[in-house]
Amino acid sequence: MKKVKNIAVLTSGGDAPGMNAAIRAVVRTGIYHKLNVFGVMYGYRGMIQDDIVPMDSKSVANIIQRGGTILKTARSKEFFTPEGRKKAYENLKKRGVDGLVVIGGDGSFKGAHVFSQEFGIPCIGLPGTIDKDISGTDFTIGFDTAANTAISAIDKIRDTADAHDRLFIVEVMGRDAGYIALYSGLATGAEHIMVPERPSDIENIVAALQDNERRKKLVNIIVVAEGCPHGSATEMAEVVRREIPSFDTRVCILGHIQRGGSPSCMDRIIASRLGYAAVKALLEGKYQSHMAGVINNEVRYTPFEQAIKTTEQIGEEWFGLYRILAS
Ligand code: F6P
Repeated sequence: MKKVKNIAVLTSGGDAPGMNAAIRAVVRTGIYHKLNVFGVMYGYRGMIQDDIVPMDSKSVANIIQRGGTILKTARSKEFFTPEGRKKAYENLKKRGVDGLVVIGGDGSFKGAHVFSQEFGIPCIGLPGTIDKDISGTDFTIGFDTAANTAISAIDKIRDTADAHDRLFIVEVMGRDAGYIALYSGLATGAEHIMVPERPSDIENIVAALQDNERRKKLVNIIVVAEGCPHGSATEMAEVVRREIPSFDTRVCILGHIQRGGSPSCMDRIIASRLGYAAVKALLEGKYQSHMAGVINNEVRYTPFEQAIKTTEQIGEEWFGLYRILAS
């Protein structure tokens, strides 16, 4: 087995709180094991454009608590072409990089998988996305912080909703996944939670709201995941305003504030454990083209194809639970 000497780390796709903690863990574990560690700026785009810098222990000082990513990030279309990947490979090769850590989401892992197959460079992925839409891990780096950001915003919205007896429709991020909506909705006592995994009928929601009105429950919060097939929070509000004009309806789209901020304890810990685990796998020559994740509080490695294939479905019991608790 060839001993790994030079590794590179990059962040790719949407940033997520905790990415810096993961970079720090990769760099410091690498340096501890006497590896040369490179940071690739702007994800795959930087790999193609040769924007690659040496990292040392100091370059990751004072970042564990910071959101965003010191390596910057981008979504590169060029990396999805064979020519782009060839350029990227040449830039790694001239530095002797023989192991790569990719911190990102499913799109980033697709790229890493092809790259690793084509050029035989061992790649380990770390799930860095607020969406929690990756298999092979119970949590993704950034999800907990994003859910907590949404929770703190919805708590504030409830204060003003309560003061005015209003209905608020709050839209949260998650792309095609409903986990931020599910967790933040459940944790704030939302009256309704709408997620793409279980499309709900607007008619049913309207009927439930009318029932609430009859019962004099005039403060209602609906948390909607942005990827819901029935349309945005704004479109939903139009339906509700038309069907129940007596309700004073407002919309709040939380947007990119969910992506920023200081990572929670949980995100810092997962990021640190997984960054360490990625370098360990490279050193041991194991799990080429795998993602390191946490399952039942233990580090587990899942092949990229499996990690990006399916996300787990949200079971009915989650919905039974919030409906009972919010009734
Ligand atoms: O994947 C993370 C995410 O924040 C999604 O929740 C959201 O749909 C998307 O990225 C937004 O992307 P952008 O920052 O490019 O607008």
